[in-house]
Amino acid sequence: MKIKIAPSILNCDFGKLNEEIASIEKFVDILHLDVMDGNFVPNLSFGAPIIEKIKTNLPLDCHLMVDHPETYIEDFAKVNADIITIHEETCKNNLQDIIEQIKAKNIKVGVAINPDTSLEAVKEILGSVDMLLVMSVFPGFGGQSFMPEVLEKIKEARSLYPDLDIQIDGGINEETVKEAVYAGANIIVAGSFIFKAEDREKAIKKLKIEN
Ligand code: DX5
Ligand code: ZN
Repeated sequence: MKIKIAPSILNCDFGKLNEEIASIEKFVDILHLDVMDGNFVPNLSFGAPIIEKIKTNLPLDCHLMVDHPETYIEDFAKVNADIITIHEETCKNNLQDIIEQIKAKNIKVGVAINPDTSLEAVKEILGSVDMLLVMSVFPGFGGQSFMPEVLEKIKEARSLYPDLDIQIDGGINEETVKEAVYAGANIIVAGSFIFKAEDREKAIKKLKIEN
């Protein structure tokens, strides 16, 4: 499977957001946008009004770390989200419903699981989504350490769904990316490793490994 790189802008300079994005745009495949509400995760980031101002040709991958994600689907559809990822933990009773609501807008759907959520919790719906996001840190902040114990979930998901997009998010660097890709991840989110690098192009190249 082709490995795709999805930079997270969480750790970039928001005062010059479009310049920051322009600095990496040519070398990557997807733009990963971390939306946080201060409830589901203990931090605030940004929402649709900021995303609307982003100038890029990259597909917009909106990772919703928010309670009641269904209330924001319309907003993200309006700002041309290409994929909306919702957390299983935020839609215990209505996961399938929300998946259908996103699909009805012709937007791809991703389902995310935290490090302490089992694959079991989403196994049944994986056949009806475009992407599984396996969190390799507890969501809320960039710059945390990769949790290798989540690799087992990636391996299992990959063996069940050979063609599913499997995204890994949190603590990715030139070493941890190898473990993630060998386990079966094919979409690599990286925030601080890219944006804090002196040479961003070089950092991105280090993530483009073969599986
Ligand atoms: C964590 C976010 C991640 C994070 C990645 O809550 O979902 O996308 O910004 O940042 P790094 O690569 O620095 O762990
Ligand atoms: Zn993310």
